[in-house]
Amino acid sequence: MKELAGQPITLKGWVSNKRSGKGLFFIILRDGTGFCQCVVDEKLVSAESFANAHAATMESAVEITGTVRQDDRQIGGYEVTASSVTLISLAEEYPISKKEHGVDFLMDKRHLWLRSQRQWAIMRIRNSMIFAIHRFFQEQGFMQMDAPIFTGNACEGTSNLFETDFYGDPAYLSQSGQLYGEAMAMSMGKIYTFGPTFRAEKSKTRRHLSEFWMIEPEMAFHDLFMNMDLMESMVRFVVGAVLEERRTELGLIGRDTTLLEQLVHQPFPRITYDEAIRILKGEQEVNGRNSIGTLEEDLAVLNKNMEDLRKEITEREQKIAGGTLKQGEINFNQNKIATLKNDIKELEEKAENIPLWIRSAREFTYGNDLGGSDETVITRLFEVPIMVYDWPHEVKAFYLKRNPENDRFARGVDMLAPEGYGEIIGGGERETDTQKLKLKILEHNLPMQEFEWYLDLRRYGSVPHAGFGLGLERLVAWVCKLPHVRETIPFPRMYGRLFP
Ligand code: 4AD
Ligand code: MG
Repeated sequence: MKELAGQPITLKGWVSNKRSGKGLFFIILRDGTGFCQCVVDEKLVSAESFANAHAATMESAVEITGTVRQDDRQIGGYEVTASSVTLISLAEEYPISKKEHGVDFLMDKRHLWLRSQRQWAIMRIRNSMIFAIHRFFQEQGFMQMDAPIFTGNACEGTSNLFETDFYGDPAYLSQSGQLYGEAMAMSMGKIYTFGPTFRAEKSKTRRHLSEFWMIEPEMAFHDLFMNMDLMESMVRFVVGAVLEERRTELGLIGRDTTLLEQLVHQPFPRITYDEAIRILKGEQEVNGRNSIGTLEEDLAVLNKNMEDLRKEITEREQKIAGGTLKQGEINFNQNKIATLKNDIKELEEKAENIPLWIRSAREFTYGNDLGGSDETVITRLFEVPIMVYDWPHEVKAFYLKRNPENDRFARGVDMLAPEGYGEIIGGGERETDTQKLKLKILEHNLPMQEFEWYLDLRRYGSVPHAGFGLGLERLVAWVCKLPHVRETIPFPRMYGRLFP
């Protein structure tokens, strides 16, 4: 638009919003690349163009010709003064209106919801991340590899496999490309996969999808700490790219970028599982902040806010009951009350969680895996991602190497995103000892025969190697600060949702 200021332009797109004034229509046009306000003035266009602008309903497809004018107050910083408006297709009454819809309704209309400004912005941020991830690895000499989707082996435990029929034999939709990535790394040195991943998770949480996209680098001659260096620099690179390319989009979804900006320059803390548990239980502080103490403070603030909102509702109700207000003022107050009630509901949900989190943190049993709420409690204390390593080997996957100095711990590492988000990456250094690996396969009740090919990787030129898996949707959710991963993928597949 910038180069076109003062010049004629023709835009083809959809009416994403329309307001009218005296002899005027203001159409917010979405053309795929962005949003732009087009002003249709009765005095400046033909009667036919004006009638078209009048007739155009929400999401009608139109072609608008006009002149570009700079206007910093407008979305995108420019607007178009129309000279003609043509209707390409008049839309029926659009089911998504400006009033607030429930998420279930919007998910049922996902094919249309994708057109909203917010979803448009999220999808563009996702696209930038995908491209940045490929750039990051390609520039460092990694080979991209496509791992199979039909698999015979379970990689991440047998409890969440999607079983399918493969010519009469059972096969599973890929839970992870890692085992194949390890094979390829012994040929190529450094590889990464970027593919769809399937987990049958029969639970409705804000971080679980049944189908998601995972990026899995695998590197020969890498140990746990080199692995951490790589995941840290990758996340920093991807966040940096989004900040550079998607300012407008981050603004549209209201993402405060202060913390994202900081992390581009700050090292990510590396803490052991033991330290993480002490932080969780409030036995170790983070920058003077205590996990339980902060939760209690936050709860008090939430309660105070809810009280204030309730007071405001009462005041407005009294005003309406007073009988001196005009109809317009009554409507205004009633709308305001509805919004306030909604706000209270949101705060109530948050406030309900906190006591549960406190209890789960206090009662956490050392040696267990971290649950979603535990990750939330820990990462609320941090402003940048953290890396938690050296986990009790019992809670981690069979393929992880043990800490040579302390056999209790496996050399796994999870990256947990700050601001309460939790795990976005899981990875670690791989076991190279064939005997130890066999024991683990037995311990996990996996069929030894089917892992023979994997054991071959140790029999023939075994080397230290490591890798990790990044969940794309989890990364998008955190960077966009979304409450749920369902908005990070065009058509989410999760427990209870297969359509549209
Ligand atoms: O921690 P996970 O299970 O690790 C692996 O699959 C390893 N094989 C990776 C490796 O070392 N090559 O999964 C890795 C990441 C998680 O940290 C999370 O971001 C994402 O994948 N993830 C999910 N994302 C959305 N929905 C789900 N159900 C997910 N399960 C895992
Ligand atoms: Mg994990």
